[in-house]
Amino acid sequence: MKGGVHTSQRHDSALKHVTGQAIYIDDMAEPAGTLHAALVLSPIAHGRLKKVEVPPSAGVVAVLGPNDIPGKNDVGAVGPGEPLFATDRVFYAGQPLMMVVATSLDAARHAAERAVIEIDAEPAILDIESALAAKAYVQAPATLLRGDPDGAMASAPHRLSAEFTVGGQEHFYLEGQIAFALPGEDGDILVHSSTQHPTEVQHICARLLGCDFNRVTAVVRRLGGGFGGKESNASWVAGAAAVAANHTGKPVKLRLPRETDMIATGKRHPFLYRYTVGFDDDGRVLALDATLAADAGWSLDLTPGVVARAMTHTDNAYWIPHFRATGYACKTHKQSNTAFRGFGGPQGVVVMEDALDRIAVHLGRDADELRALNFYDEAGDETPYGQKVDENHLPRVWAEVKQGGEIARRRAEIAEFNRTSPILKRGLGLFPLKFGISFNIPHMNQAGALVHIYTDGSIRLNHGGTEMGQGLFIKIAQVVAEVFKVDIDRIRPSATSTAEVPNTSPTAASTGSDLNGWAAFEAANTIKQRMIAFAAEHFGVAPSDIEFADGNVRIAKPGSNQVLSFGELTKLCYLGRVSLSSTGYYKTPKIHWDGAAMKGRPFFYFAFGAAAAEVAIDTLTGESRVLRADLVQDCGASLNPAIDLGQIEGAFVQGQGWFTCEELWWDSEGRLRTVGPSTYKIPGSRDAPAIFNVNMLANAPSQEATVFRSKAVGEPPLMLATAVWTALKDAIAAAGDGRTSVRLDAPATPERILAALAKLAPSS
Ligand code: MTE
Ligand code: MOS
Repeated sequence: MKGGVHTSQRHDSALKHVTGQAIYIDDMAEPAGTLHAALVLSPIAHGRLKKVEVPPSAGVVAVLGPNDIPGKNDVGAVGPGEPLFATDRVFYAGQPLMMVVATSLDAARHAAERAVIEIDAEPAILDIESALAAKAYVQAPATLLRGDPDGAMASAPHRLSAEFTVGGQEHFYLEGQIAFALPGEDGDILVHSSTQHPTEVQHICARLLGCDFNRVTAVVRRLGGGFGGKESNASWVAGAAAVAANHTGKPVKLRLPRETDMIATGKRHPFLYRYTVGFDDDGRVLALDATLAADAGWSLDLTPGVVARAMTHTDNAYWIPHFRATGYACKTHKQSNTAFRGFGGPQGVVVMEDALDRIAVHLGRDADELRALNFYDEAGDETPYGQKVDENHLPRVWAEVKQGGEIARRRAEIAEFNRTSPILKRGLGLFPLKFGISFNIPHMNQAGALVHIYTDGSIRLNHGGTEMGQGLFIKIAQVVAEVFKVDIDRIRPSATSTAEVPNTSPTAASTGSDLNGWAAFEAANTIKQRMIAFAAEHFGVAPSDIEFADGNVRIAKPGSNQVLSFGELTKLCYLGRVSLSSTGYYKTPKIHWDGAAMKGRPFFYFAFGAAAAEVAIDTLTGESRVLRADLVQDCGASLNPAIDLGQIEGAFVQGQGWFTCEELWWDSEGRLRTVGPSTYKIPGSRDAPAIFNVNMLANAPSQEATVFRSKAVGEPPLMLATAVWTALKDAIAAAGDGRTSVRLDAPATPERILAALAKLAPSS
């Protein structure tokens, strides 16, 4: 049997991706009469909307605004208040005001660009500090508290306070936001959407159209990348296409050009941190009091979940007896920030890394040792939110990275290099990771699947998860192949559709294979048990005498061993009137969460990881490079090691981009000016570490009942790039006296590195 679980299988669409044969929405054949839409965006960050007019021009079929929405003009994902098209006020530069529908894409865009817009501008809040000062929030501040941080801080032998910021990040999926809506009978709509959340597309389209959910079918075969950017944002794009299709009675495609995509849609949340940490003479952390202020942008979007995940990851790998994290969701007149790989986790884990580096400098101690000293106990300490840290692999991943990365030897080498190199400085940074897996809204942790076997023994697989390049479809196919013990090429994954598996959760929080894997397992196993029951009766044997292996089914009959192919048994089952189709369902056990108290067990389990990164900086230009990275990631018993290694590498480099070169820049009027690859720099192939040692933790099957003991991998390794940021601080410090803590805001662009160097005490 080829392609069961725990084997390396290439992505089911790998060859199609590289030969251009994979069909994305913009590649789909367009039915006659297809129309194209373009958006009119607000050029002003905040103000009163007086007028939007699109002058008549060739090819324009309709110009649609808020009054043309038959249902509710609201596309909010978790709360109300986010109009698809602005009504009397605008809240960010880039907010959609209207939509032009025309016979060609060029005609639609041409007309949209000529829109006449009148807005009475009002003062705009454009940064976190101003929002905090104005107490402008999209939700009330929240606190995660354990113990008595004030008391513990007051009595701690040492205390220090610091402040820093991290920037946002553009998802830069290769395929931009797109939807293609086709009207059917009686007002039905079929929407092809590049979305991580087909069910939300269905709901938002129905809300805008004012119809029942059963009138809308959302379908997605694949996304050209999502990274969180197509969790909520895809829904309003699809909703706009659906409104236009409904209005015109024609198929309508809405594809955002890169610039529109970058201006109109939300990004990773920038954060501002202020914290005080108390510690003893050995560097043991006694108390942390941290303020995490996120730039939510103009509306709620998914901010509550992002801030909650940041707060529940502020502890990262460390036992902090007295803990307070206060999360602010600041309301600014900018794009509404959204999910991005890690979903606030990356913005949480940086706090303790910064604190520990400062403590190390303060006490003159080794920063790596201080980290390990503060790790959660293997015996199972509790996090500040009350979840036991079970199956703690921190000591293992740490030891492997230190050993594999030859840290002791290289620290000495780097010190020697820095002693003799006046201009170039090197630095080394280590990072441990603990990341919680599950949506921390318990009800979202459920999934469904639908498996059919046809009478030739070929299998069609459907489930609620979406394929965005991460390899979910091949992993789930491996699970089904394993159940039936058939070759993987007998299994045909099919497009995700709200008509096949309803009421799904987004493919997000890295839970895609955990949830849908089990659901598909249940569906396949239900059919398998029916086949076994039928065969037992048919051949007059006990069910335990029937074995599926190598694409065959063995019937152990006294005296003779009969072997049928899987297809032959399928045919027999059909003739015996056995249903060869089943749904499957899964819900994650053990989890519970009290969102108000911020206590519970939000995560089914933790994924662990560790990284060491070496960087070099040029102290004259501020440029930096990552020379080497050593990563160890806990994937449990990996379903597909090839895919998981790819996820680890890709996530790390994407994290590297967030920490170093990806800088979003708004002008003083709040207009985003980094709107394409020429001004917004994502890492290229040459930015990946020259030496890149990536490993999965061996012999570490999940102790929880995850699907075939695997663990989620989609997001956690992005955070391993924190080691790059730590290494950059180490390199900067090496240019000074080594006794000065470095503040380095992310992204650590050349300008930021030069600024940090300029603040150093001179080298002695
Ligand atoms: N990998 C690729 N190639 N493209 C993507 O868009 N998204 C990431 C990660 N890996 C992404 C990716 C994000 S944000 C998440 S949450 C997970 O994949 C989602 O898929 P999974 O749950 O199946 O891992
Ligand atoms: Mo991923 S940010 O949870 O889509």
